Order: sequence, then C-alpha cells, then structure tokens
Amino acid sequence: MSPFLGYTCSVCRREYGRDAVVYTCPEDGGNLDVRLDLESIRRSVSPASIRESAEDSIWRYLPLLPVVDPGHDGTPLKSVGWTPLFRSRRLASDLGLSRLWLKDDGRNPTASFKDRASAVVVARAQEIGAKVIITASTGNAGAALAGMAAAADRPAVILAPKTAPPAKVAQLLVFGARVVLVDGTYDQAFDLTLEAAQAFGWYCRNTGYNPFTAEGKKTAAYEICEQLTVTETPAVGAKHIVPSGARGASPLQWSAPDAVFVSVGDGNIISGLHKGFRELYELGWIAQVPRLFGIQSTGSAAVANAFARGSESIEPVRADTLADSISVDMPRDGLRALRAATQTGGAYLTVTDAEILEAIAALGRREAVFSEPAAAAAYAGIVKAAGAGMVGPEDGIVVMLTGSGLKDTRAAMQAAGEAKIIEPRLEALQRILA
Ligand SMILES: Cc1ncc(COP(=O)(O)O)c(C=O)c1O
Ligand SMILES: [Zn+2]
Repeated sequence: MSPFLGYTCSVCRREYGRDAVVYTCPEDGGNLDVRLDLESIRRSVSPASIRESAEDSIWRYLPLLPVVDPGHDGTPLKSVGWTPLFRSRRLASDLGLSRLWLKDDGRNPTASFKDRASAVVVARAQEIGAKVIITASTGNAGAALAGMAAAADRPAVILAPKTAPPAKVAQLLVFGARVVLVDGTYDQAFDLTLEAAQAFGWYCRNTGYNPFTAEGKKTAAYEICEQLTVTETPAVGAKHIVPSGARGASPLQWSAPDAVFVSVGDGNIISGLHKGFRELYELGWIAQVPRLFGIQSTGSAAVANAFARGSESIEPVRADTLADSISVDMPRDGLRALRAATQTGGAYLTVTDAEILEAIAALGRREAVFSEPAAAAAYAGIVKAAGAGMVGPEDGIVVMLTGSGLKDTRAAMQAAGEAKIIEPRLEALQRILA
C-alpha cells in the first residue's frame, strides 16, 4: 500500500488530500510537501528490509515514495539513482579534511541528478493517466524528462532557453521530445510552460511547482545514509566503493554525514535532500539531520542573498553565470531551499565562475570525476567553507555532484585549457613536451 496521504503547504501549512490539488497551494501558491504515513512505514519497512532489496536504483526506496509502480522494467525508468559515493582522500587532504565523500550523480542514465525527479514524475503521470508531460528546463531536467518519457513511451514537450549548452539540447532531441528553444531566460520558459500546461491540459513537471520532483530528489539523501553506512564500516576500506548492499553495516541505523554541500538554482534539490534526511530522522533511522550548505553562483544568488539578509523574502536577481543549470532569476523553490540551510545549522555560500572552473579542474585531476559547472560549484563551496573554518577537520562531509562534465564541454575546455596541435613527427612532440 502507498504511504501517500496528501500534501502540506510549505507556506500556510494547510493540508490537502491526495486528490484535492495537483501542483501548488490554491490559497497562496506555496509549494506543497508530499505527506507520507511515516507510522505505517516505520511498522512495515526498516533499514534491514531495504538492505535486502534487489533494486540497485531509487526504487529500492519505493515503500517511502508516493507512487506504487515505477513502470517499465528494464528501461532507464528503472535504473535511476544508486550512484556511487566515493571517499576522496586526496581532495580531503588538499582541504585539511579527513572524511570527504563525493556522490557522483553524473552517472545517472541521462547524466544528471534530475533523473531522480523525472522518474518519479513520470511514474505519477502514469498513475493519474496524464498523457503529455511538459517541463521548462535549463537543460538537465528536460533531458531527464525526455529520457524517462521515451522509456515510458509517452510524449514530452520541453521548453529550454536558447542558450542551453548544445549537448543538453542534443539529448532532448535524441530522446524524441518536442523541443522548443525560447528566446528568453529559463524563468520566462518556466512561466510559458505553466500557461501551456493549462491551455492544453498537459501534465507539468516544472521543478518545485510539481510536488513529486522533490520526492524523487529526496532519494539521494536516503542513498547517502545507506551508502555511508557501508563506507563507514571498518571492514570496507576501499577508496572507491560502488555500493552493492550494506553487508556488515548496522541492521538498525544508517549513518548521516555531518554536512552536505549542494548547488542551488531553483532550490528543489536541496529541499528534496532536506525532506529525505528529515524523514529518516523521524523514522529513527539516522541520529541527526546533516547541516545543509547551499552553493550559488555569485551571478545567480537569490537564495544566498536572502540568507545573508536573514530574511525569508527572496528577491529576484538578473542571473548571469557560466553555470547554466543554476542560472535562475527567481528560484521556484526558494523558501524551502532557504529553510534547508537555516533549519539544519547550514549556510549559503556564493562562488565565482572562476572558482567553479577551478573546481572542475580539481575534481578532474585529483579524483577523475568530470563535472559540469553547476555540479562543480558544490565542490567550490566546500573549498570556501573549509578555508573559512565553517566545517571541522573531522566532520563527515558529502559533496553532491549533480551533473556530468560531458553536458557542457565548452566550460570544461575553459577549465582545462586547449590541447596543442603538432605535426606527426617525434621532434615536434619533443618540442611540445619540453
Ligand atoms: C547539474 C545541476 N546541478 C544543480 C542544479 C540545481 O538544482 P535546483 O534548481 O533544484 O536548485 C541543477 C538544476 O537544473 C542541475 O541541473
Ligand atoms: Zn498555502
């Protein structure tokens, strides 16, 4: 049985039944939290029962999700998540830390974290009989929806800004979505999507606006805790742990890290993570909710600005950053994203484009992880926080890497420099190597 009870508005705390609303609070437009029956989950599910799951994907957590059927075995819908959590001793030592992990969500089927949200939204669309699904996207959410919709044999319509990196647009097209590039910003594409969904009766996946996106994203919090339980077990001392079941770990409790760093655009990833950790805490499966650190680009810092002002009122900015995935004028999940930091003792930090490029290079050279700018921003954030003493040397820290570097090779070349061209002769090679 599904534990899905209904929704609670994140602004006015009004509660709605499962079928009373579809997107946001009718009273004030606030984003809705999905309400789950944690009592029944506690009675019927445990870390030990999840450990027995044969699913190496987000669907091992199906009993904690508001959908009943992932749909379509053997397709990308079923292979999302359970991405590796690497212990990074080199970067830890560079930063004066001892317990640093990187969670590489660039390893998802369409190469970004957004697969988690789109898989759950598509499962929901199937349950409610929605046919066409539309989303606005800076690129990754659209690629994820296009991929998941292709797997489920459902039409998808994607509106992205015309400035989206070509690799992301290519993905949208290859997955067979109806792709429309908007001569405007992501925010304008977002508003146009809402109008189109209403006018044409389509189901809208828009980040934050659709309550099921955060439900997909919270699975990364579950994975971090389950996988950390494996990596913290002394018998498992390998550096690269590709988890394959938490054998040897405590059957009752999972380990939460002390802090998690994640980049923030609309703010739905960080609010999804917050919900996931809170649920595990309320279930008694982890001893504490980690401090959540939201990292924004200085050129797109609406939530960080509100954090710095100590205010819950988020003012739009004019976004301008090379980290296209977090380039957002008005974050659509800003309030919950802000509270993810303020309610956990975390913080918001901003990083420059130059720091993001340095982070891409550091991740590549020191750990062979290839991240797109928005993902590397989270690493630039821990560099800053470690330098400022905002985390302790013994803290267990997870950096969430949300998208693959193959998504934006132009930025990668900016980070790494161009390769030299020579004539095919040994002397020419010697000259260049000297
Ligand atoms: C790679 C990557 N990182 C981070 C984010 C930020 O997520 P959110 O907009 O939910 O804050 C996105 C969103 O598109 C993304 O694609
Ligand atoms: Zn409300």
